[in-house]
Amino acid sequence: MSGDTVTLFEVGPRDGLQSLKTEVPAATKIALVDALSNTGLGKIEVTSFVSPKWVPQLADAAEVMAGITRAPGVRYAVLTPNLTGLDRARAAGADEVAVFASASEGFSRANLNCSVAESLDRFAPLFEAAAADHLPVRGYLSTVIACPFDGPTPPETVARIAARMLEMGCYEISLGDTIGAGDPARLSALLDVLLDHVPADRLAGHFHDTHGTALAMIETALHRGLRVFDASVAGLGGCPYAPGASGNVDTRAALERITALGFATGVDLAALAEAERIAATIA
Ligand code: HMG
Ligand code: MG
Repeated sequence: MSGDTVTLFEVGPRDGLQSLKTEVPAATKIALVDALSNTGLGKIEVTSFVSPKWVPQLADAAEVMAGITRAPGVRYAVLTPNLTGLDRARAAGADEVAVFASASEGFSRANLNCSVAESLDRFAPLFEAAAADHLPVRGYLSTVIACPFDGPTPPETVARIAARMLEMGCYEISLGDTIGAGDPARLSALLDVLLDHVPADRLAGHFHDTHGTALAMIETALHRGLRVFDASVAGLGGCPYAPGASGNVDTRAALERITALGFATGVDLAALAEAERIAATIA
């Protein structure tokens, strides 16, 4: 399994900043993205075009997108919950967008103010409009291990919704352990079911490191064929609508573990220091 390439999807500027209590100036967010652009990371999630009433921390999404200096070869991604978000993302020149659904009803209500089925219905016109523009759509599926409101999530439910989201047009499903409830055994139990329905090369891991299990989960996922992992510079973050969620797995720690296992990432660890310095002024 070693020798393969692994892609790190940097989500710090979005997942890391969306739940901060302190106000972060747009200029700092821009500096963070620009520093990340110089590291060799191929994909950076810059911000979210969601309702500013729901996530005031990212209300400056258009300003941030307009201010960044785009590096050749880097794809700049944003979150879009609906057509309004997609229109704003297109105006900002996003290279790709992401929809986000939940594998549990409780978190769907808290995060999107609708049921899981309603959220998928809402995405349908977004997929159509994105396809017309040849804009790739990534899919997040949250609470794949457990939900802060509903408890453990049945793997069969994750498999059904992930397969549906791929069918609808997502190029990849990022498996969100939103509150860091997972460990290698729970992830293996999920993948035992999920991989019968969805191939590993259409899946990514998005593991919040609440209980320090994210690196071990990445290792488990690598053994099962996954090659894309989300990570957050300096471990910034959480979700404002998931009580108890802490940051996504730290980018440097993820890179070190993945590299130690013999995979190439193309990321320059030394260059990451500048982004970490900026992250330290934020958190
Ligand atoms: P709603 O209140 O049910 O629906 O929100 P609405 O359509 O009535 O919208 C309310 C207001 O927002 C309206 O304005 C809309 O125009 C406006 P008003 O008429 O009251 O003045 N609005 C928008 N404005 C700008 N951009 C938009 C937009 N959409 C509506 N795109 C909605 C429904 C989905 C909009 C809301 O619930 C929302 O924005 N939720 C997003 C919550 C969020 O961003 N959560 C964090 C990201 S997900 C996450 O962190 C998990 C992840 O990391 C994976 C994991 O860890 O598991 C991805
Ligand atoms: Mg997240």
